[in-house]
Amino acid sequence: MPILIREKYWILETAQTAYAFGVTPRGRLVHSYWGARLPFPEDYPIPHDTDGWASFNGPGHALPEEYPAYAGPNYGEPCLKATFADGVRDTVLQFVDTEITTGELPEVRVTLRDVAYPLAVVLCYRVHAQHDLIERWVELTNTGTTPVTLERVWSALWRLPWGEEYRLSHVFGRWFEEWQLRREVLQPGVKVKESRRITTSHNASPWFAIDRGNADEDQGAVWFGVLAWGGNWKLAAEVTESGATRLGIGLNDWDFAWRLMPGETFTTPASLAGYTANGFGAASRTLHDYAREHLPHGQRLHPVLYNSWEAVFFDVNEASQMAVAELAAGMGVELFVMDDGWFHRRDLDNAGLGDWWPDARKFPNGIKPLIERVNALGMDFGLWLEPEMVNPDSDLYRAHPDWVIHFPTRARTEMRNQLILNLGRTDVQDYLIALLDKLLTEHNITFIKWDMNRNVSEPGWPDAPGDARELWVRYVQGVYRVWGTLARRHPQVLWQSCSGGGGRVDYGMLRLVDQFWVSDNTEATARLGIQEGFSQIMPAITMESQVTHMGQPLMSLPFRFHVSMMGVLGISDDLLKWSEVDLATGAEMIALYKEIRPIVQLGDQYRLLSAQGQDFTAMQYVSKDRTEGVLFAFRVHIPEPARIPPIYLRGLKPNAHYAIDGFDGVRSGAAWMHTGLHLELKNGESTVRRIRAVS
Ligand code: GLA
Repeated sequence: MPILIREKYWILETAQTAYAFGVTPRGRLVHSYWGARLPFPEDYPIPHDTDGWASFNGPGHALPEEYPAYAGPNYGEPCLKATFADGVRDTVLQFVDTEITTGELPEVRVTLRDVAYPLAVVLCYRVHAQHDLIERWVELTNTGTTPVTLERVWSALWRLPWGEEYRLSHVFGRWFEEWQLRREVLQPGVKVKESRRITTSHNASPWFAIDRGNADEDQGAVWFGVLAWGGNWKLAAEVTESGATRLGIGLNDWDFAWRLMPGETFTTPASLAGYTANGFGAASRTLHDYAREHLPHGQRLHPVLYNSWEAVFFDVNEASQMAVAELAAGMGVELFVMDDGWFHRRDLDNAGLGDWWPDARKFPNGIKPLIERVNALGMDFGLWLEPEMVNPDSDLYRAHPDWVIHFPTRARTEMRNQLILNLGRTDVQDYLIALLDKLLTEHNITFIKWDMNRNVSEPGWPDAPGDARELWVRYVQGVYRVWGTLARRHPQVLWQSCSGGGGRVDYGMLRLVDQFWVSDNTEATARLGIQEGFSQIMPAITMESQVTHMGQPLMSLPFRFHVSMMGVLGISDDLLKWSEVDLATGAEMIALYKEIRPIVQLGDQYRLLSAQGQDFTAMQYVSKDRTEGVLFAFRVHIPEPARIPPIYLRGLKPNAHYAIDGFDGVRSGAAWMHTGLHLELKNGESTVRRIRAVS
């Protein structure tokens, strides 16, 4: 039974962890525990009151409130800030009651209400006991007759055990260089990570891992979590002067407002978080397991794909694609994806976006003949779309110049010659649903790469139905509606989220998509670090990775394949230019990948030797039953004489016996994990070794 209840005190227990909060004798809802699961209910600390300290630190400031609203002498980062119709700008929340649902995913809903104004705030908790995760979100209802303006409404405040020093791990980056990991000791004050770009962004990710400065991949207490939201978000890790460390996460309040009308409810995105005593590796694997189990298409293996972009850019046409398809099928590719360039008047990036029908010059008979040919070759067919965009040079923009996000009196800044359709508008949503539904109904398409190639500017919404600053949220809700409707109507389609590479990767998108395009940077050595950063947050089954010519002739074809085989393997290169030898190598690599694919896509992932900042790196995957594994190792460039670190395998059964490709003898799992492997690789070499349990 994961939820133990005492009088106004809730303990949410998962397999290994617990999270506790309750109402103090003076009626305040406070947090009391987050960490390892304890043997007995009475082990958990009981919520208590505090009087604060001196005239400058009232109790509201010192209490570990579960969901602090801005009210009274409360100077920390609040979760909620609202303005009532008469101009009052503080919110005094009082506990009302709780509703508990048991079952496979138990839920606790704690209702709070402002003492005088018509605002009900329901804190929602869902316990993912087997995944060791707690999911939190908040529902706010206007129970009165006048509007309430929400100015900040976060999903959760996660509190760390009081009085210690912590380190925050986060990722940062930019286009072409996403997923760079940083760990930094949190100092008094607030460390903010956020997106103001209307997407999740390449620059930061709504993910955190917090430790006491002593965790590593294998051991140490780590508190970690994500926000499931693909728009503007904010994370604020705050160390207060009284020694509390807390992390608030939710919608970004920057330029945000939401007019909550009488009777309406606003629901925040969810934040998922967990605790482990087993280091950053276990934290990632916990997220990976959860993510995999919630993929729209379940845990089915993802196909090996070909993508036309790095091969020919916009220069696709029926004849050339048919010729390439033949070579791709011959190598063992399972899914043929035609990227940008296929639609009306799309020769470069300066025209066509918005006009989603085949270009008559490149595809005089539409794209059906190509799809039929691809299918006849035994492959599925996929297509690139960028539905949220228009080029000013498009039929759609000429017909509806007001459909884009803009301020009427300002210039409309173009980036990549494009503007953003306002998907907050229901007429725009309906138009896109109808157009794309037709495309998917009339063609045998089983994969869509949904791209988004710029960030917002001049975020205006003339004639907005509510406060124009609702754009930030209504836009994302619109994206979810369009995408979700299409996904429901076309369940055969596997969706990929791309935003110029990894600009929209998050647990909100994961409810719609099965995989991500992680970065436009496909140069194999850069990719090693990028992919490793991605693995902090997302599992390999979601990580599309393509072999291209980028960085040539430096890294060999097998090296490039090995890098891409650590996720969902793809090829994006002009196969018409590949030699017979290259095609044979490709076929061999794809065959090997298909053998190890269940381990890579569905197994446990271990970062053995980090790729970020190091030139010798190793990654391991182990099947869930621990009978099979695969080890990848890469040497980029280490000047001679080189000192190559040993590799200590992970995740094997200590007492089972295993054989490893290229190593003599059968040894116990414990022996392989503790004595270290030595791999003699030359500069630019890589290797893939299978690990097999032998009875
Ligand atoms: C973005 C994507 C690329 C490709 C191009 C097409 O940059 O990240 O993979 O699809 O758009 O224009």
